[in-house]
Amino acid sequence: METETKHTEEVKRHDKNEVVVDIDHISKSFGTKQVLTDINLQLKRGENVVVLGKSGQGKSVTIQCIVGLLTPDKGKVTVFGDDVAEMNDEELKELRTKVGFLFQSGALYDSMTVRDNLEFPLTRILKITDQAELDKRVEEALDGVGLLDAIDKLPSDLSGGMRKRAGLARTMIVRPEIMLYDEPTTGLDPITSREISELILNMQKKYKTSSIIITHDMECAKITADRVVIMNEGTYIAEGSFDELKKSDDKLVRSFFNETT
Ligand SMILES: Nc1ncnc2c1ncn2[C@@H]1O[C@H](COP(=O)(O)OP(=O)(O)O)[C@@H](O)[C@H]1O
Ligand SMILES: [Mg+2]
Repeated sequence: METETKHTEEVKRHDKNEVVVDIDHISKSFGTKQVLTDINLQLKRGENVVVLGKSGQGKSVTIQCIVGLLTPDKGKVTVFGDDVAEMNDEELKELRTKVGFLFQSGALYDSMTVRDNLEFPLTRILKITDQAELDKRVEEALDGVGLLDAIDKLPSDLSGGMRKRAGLARTMIVRPEIMLYDEPTTGLDPITSREISELILNMQKKYKTSSIIITHDMECAKITADRVVIMNEGTYIAEGSFDELKKSDDKLVRSFFNETT
């Protein structure tokens, strides 16, 4: 029975046509301010979709609708076929074990060492209690992001890039099937940004994770994206591969590419 479930799970992880997140005609306003207008996006199994957009266009609001932190006024978001707005607290909790998100800050607990930060989701979400198993998983996750040396350090002893990597390791340690990255490279120097982008790509390849990556870093988009959508004033204005969009004649689409020559 156990093996059968595992097998089915394996097969599912390789079904590239399965839509894991379906954003279906959603709109969202705050007071009189319309932030999202009729957004549609389907994230397929194993795919990296990059959402490009300038500041204040509704990218983070979209992500918050996916995990049920915000509810759209119109339309719906389904994750693995279930309507997020219909979920009760228990189902939302369950959803958030399958959907990892990496916010801008990396959100580590400042008073805990890197090791304790990584153990936290293992004990709390996966309910692992065996210390040898915890050590093994923490070390493996840190090794994956090149941070094994920092295991006993506090977040305040780490550089911005190291904190981001530790945050990524902490989110990935529970092997979420879906990852949402909100501006993963913002505030980092170009070399560190590139490292983080490459890590995101490695995570996809290694764990077959499906991801939405919000960014305005064109190099990050280039490295990570299977598909790019461009968001402007709360709606999607273009979609394609990075190279397809790069050739676009549309003025607004061009403006993203021109910035980086
Ligand atoms: N909880 C909220 N209450 C009111 N306004 C919000 C809230 N969250 C976001 N907004 C507004 O929605 C707009 C889009 O925000 P956001 O999705 O964060 O943009 P970005 O594309 O930079 O991620 C902004 O004008 C922001 O002020
Ligand atoms: Mg944002």
